[in-house]
Amino acid sequence: MPSSLRTLFQLDPEVIFLNHGSFGACPLPVFQVYQDWQRRLERQPVAFLGREISFHLRRARQALGGYLNADPDDLVFIPNATHGVNIIAHSLELKPGDEILTTDHEYGACDYTWEFYCSQAGARYRRQPLPLHPTDEEVLEQLSLGINPATRLIFLSHLTSPTALCLPVEAACRLAQQAGVLVLMDGAHAPGQVDLDLTALGPDFYTGNCHKWMLSPKGAGFLYARRSLQPLVRPLVVSWGYHATSETTTGSSFVDYLEWTGTHDPSAALSVPAAIQFMRDQDWGKVRRTCQQILNQSLPHINQIASLSSVYPDSPDLHQQMAVIHLPASTDLPVLKRRLYDEYRIEIPLIDWNGNKLARISFQGYNTPGDLDALAQALKDLLPTASLITHADSGF
Ligand SMILES: Cc1ncc(COP(=O)(O)O)c(C=O)c1O
Repeated sequence: MPSSLRTLFQLDPEVIFLNHGSFGACPLPVFQVYQDWQRRLERQPVAFLGREISFHLRRARQALGGYLNADPDDLVFIPNATHGVNIIAHSLELKPGDEILTTDHEYGACDYTWEFYCSQAGARYRRQPLPLHPTDEEVLEQLSLGINPATRLIFLSHLTSPTALCLPVEAACRLAQQAGVLVLMDGAHAPGQVDLDLTALGPDFYTGNCHKWMLSPKGAGFLYARRSLQPLVRPLVVSWGYHATSETTTGSSFVDYLEWTGTHDPSAALSVPAAIQFMRDQDWGKVRRTCQQILNQSLPHINQIASLSSVYPDSPDLHQQMAVIHLPASTDLPVLKRRLYDEYRIEIPLIDWNGNKLARISFQGYNTPGDLDALAQALKDLLPTASLITHADSGF
């Protein structure tokens, strides 16, 4: 991995940044394109937002569709994956007794979304328990056990937030289809970290972020919906697309409904083609594989230095660019997090997942093996003194 990659990012050189997963980081060449779009907007806001925007967004959707192997008219830009989950939860029009099936590895804010919509409707959000590092068979078995005649939809992260698992999404899609229930994949962490082919995967709905591992500016999420299900999708915010005219329609009522939700800055979405081009120019497939290998090789070393037990069985493919390490049960996470940042300038999320104290490492193209050595040394120094009272943590 070329060391020059670090210089393309705008990150504070004083910080050891091991938390790409929370909000991503946008490289300078992509950020410049983003600012160019913003300047263009401000030069003639009415021409840009009133007349030209659909054309520009269509081109961005085409680039995203090419990257994800999906028809651009089955994709729409939305601010983020949280919106995507909310749009589908809103669209289902749940009834009393309905069930949404998921696992206990989902992202907290999305759990809240489903809890809200289920409680409003008198429906149930069923979270099947899984171990910290389940096999694919265990995941599928738990999902199968959770399916019943009331199940409306399976909600599943492609890559989980608290535990950095890559869940068996292809098999889960097949399971949902066989059971006759819908499936929504939460791909907040997937595109840019794994090869995502939406046509081959064939989910009913898939939401994801470009602003995490695809390196776009913040505020570029997307929602995919299978063509036959698009009439089900209801906008969270109703705006002009509800009655698009022949001049304003994109040709897809799904896109018309969701693309324009009132005045907003679409520059992040418009920069997605530049982010895709950046990844091509930098041979990002190779960067990703190198990151995954470095992380994989470093985990035993970190565990050994800090006297921790390993989460992963001995196999190189069990995580992507995010992995977790298992901290002692007595660790006071807020204290450790504060000291890691204040004393060692290490930015890393510490997570209490079902009583397991975890540190989630993200390893991105700008990181070096030295960043992981610094983490190992800091944990060795701090863990013996960070075992006080325990508290929950937001996870960021
Ligand atoms: C699995 C998962 N889903 C959804 C989200 C929400 O992403 P956003 O805040 O961009 O909507 C996150 C954020 O980290 C996540 O990890």
